[in-house]
Amino acid sequence: MRGGAEKSPESFWHMSDSTDDLYREFIIEEYSNPQNKGQLPDADVVHKEENASCGDMMTVYLKVQDNSLSDIKWSGIGCAISVASMSLVSQYAKGKTFAEIQAVTKKDLEEVLGIRDISPNREKCLMLGLRAVQKAIIKL
Ligand code: FES
Repeated sequence: MRGGAEKSPESFWHMSDSTDDLYREFIIEEYSNPQNKGQLPDADVVHKEENASCGDMMTVYLKVQDNSLSDIKWSGIGCAISVASMSLVSQYAKGKTFAEIQAVTKKDLEEVLGIRDISPNREKCLMLGLRAVQKAIIKL
């Protein structure tokens, strides 16, 4: 992440994205209080994923048991959408099988976050955390 400063969620919100006020509030709330942030020193796999369009990065730390994710933490900072999405993906993924996690799609995230007609650049923000987790699983 460039500069290392926290970003204001409002400053990274593009008015062209179509989102109801209620969902917008939900995203900012999740961004302000993200879940599963941190690191796992004994992680089975670590993967860093970058959003090439802005340089923001998310690193995920996964602990696995059989074909499931027993624990997940993540570090990195980004815009409101990327952090909210990473937080929600981490909450969903804990305890799920690899197949269940790999089946999560952009559409699923759009529905959970209440985003419609997302622009290509914001799509990269939305998908950053999910891509990190899905690519980490492939490394196992
Ligand atoms: Fe960088 Fe959204 S602006 S992840």
